[in-house]
Amino acid sequence: MIYTVTLNPAVDVYFTINKPLQEIEVNRADSQVMKAAGKGINCSLLLDTLLIPSTAIALLGGFSGAFIKAQLQEKKLINVFEIMMKAENRINMKLLQKDTSFSVNASGSPIDETVIKALFGCTERFTADDIVLLSGSLIPGFSEADYIELCRSIKAKQAFLAVDTEMLSLSLLKKIQPDLIKPNLYELSLLLKRDSLSESLHDELREVMQYTRCVLLSLGAEGAVFCNHDTTLRITQQPIQAKNTVGCGDALLAGFIGEYAKTHSLSAALAMGAACACAHAEGNDTSLDLIKSYLPKITVTPAESLNCQL
Ligand SMILES: Nc1ncnc2c1ncn2[C@@H]1O[C@H](COP(=O)(O)OP(=O)(O)OP(=O)(O)O)[C@@H](O)[C@H]1O
Ligand SMILES: [Mg+2]
Repeated sequence: MIYTVTLNPAVDVYFTINKPLQEIEVNRADSQVMKAAGKGINCSLLLDTLLIPSTAIALLGGFSGAFIKAQLQEKKLINVFEIMMKAENRINMKLLQKDTSFSVNASGSPIDETVIKALFGCTERFTADDIVLLSGSLIPGFSEADYIELCRSIKAKQAFLAVDTEMLSLSLLKKIQPDLIKPNLYELSLLLKRDSLSESLHDELREVMQYTRCVLLSLGAEGAVFCNHDTTLRITQQPIQAKNTVGCGDALLAGFIGEYAKTHSLSAALAMGAACACAHAEGNDTSLDLIKSYLPKITVTPAESLNCQL
C-alpha cells in the first residue's frame, strides 16, 4: 500500500478576479473554488487519477477538516485515515488574475500530545511492503524532534520512506536517513546551506547521497535528475506553456512512486512522474488521458552520456 502523510492539510480557496484589484474597496470574485490541499493529499489525488489506491493519513479538525475529508472520500481509490484534532485545518487564500496571482497561506493551529500520540500509533500498521510519502510543512506543536521520531518509527517497520519538505538540512537528513528525497534546486541549496550550486551538481548530489538511498531532484521546466548508488538518470520533456507550477513536484513524486510500485522499472516510473508533472503544469484538471499524451514526449537518459551536465 502507498500511504501519504499530511501533517498540515489545508483548504485552498481560489478566487478568480478579472478586474484590477482595488485597495480598500470590496473586490468581487468572478468565480470561487475550494480544494482539499497539502502535499501528501496532492499525491493521493494524483495517484487516484492514475487509478492507484492510496491511504491518505491526515490530521483533520473542524469544518475545514470535514470539507477535506468529504472531498477525499469522493475519490474511489483514496482511503482516508483521519487523525482527529480539536483545531480547525488552515484555510489558504489564492487570488487568480489574468497575468498574476497572490497566495496567502496560514500556518495552522497548534496540535496537542493526544494528536501526536495518535499519529505515532498509525505507524504501527506499516510493513516492509509499504511506501510512505511524508510531504509538506510541520504543523505547529509538532517539533523537529517529533519529526525525527516519526521517520524513525516508519523506518523501524522497514517501509520505504520518501520525504518531500523544505525544512531538510544535512544534519536532519543524517538523523532520518530516508529512502528518497525530492528537493527542487532551491531546496537543495537550503539543505546544503549554499548560495550557489555547481553546474554539474555532481558534488552536491554526492554529499546528499551519504544519507539517502535515492534523490529525485526536480529542475522545473528543465526536467529532473534521479540518482541512486548505481545510476544517475536525466529526465527531460519538451517545453510546455506552464500555467500552474505549484504542486508540479508533488505530481512528479506521486507519478514516480505509483508507477515504480506497479512496474519496478526506474525509467518507466521517471517518465510517468514527469508526464504527471507536465499534465499538472498545463493547469487544467489533470486527467489520465492528458498524462498519457505526455508520456511519448519524455526522455530518460543515463546522465553519464550527458557528461553529467544537467
Ligand atoms: N514550466 C514547466 N514546463 C514543463 N514542465 C515543468 C514546468 N515546471 C515544472 N515542470 C515539471 O514538474 C516537475 C516538478 O517541478 P518543480 O521543480 O517546479 O517542483 P517543485 O518546486 O517541487 O513544486 P511543488 O513543491 O510546488 O510541488 C519538473 O521536474 C518538471 O517535470
Ligand atoms: Mg516541491
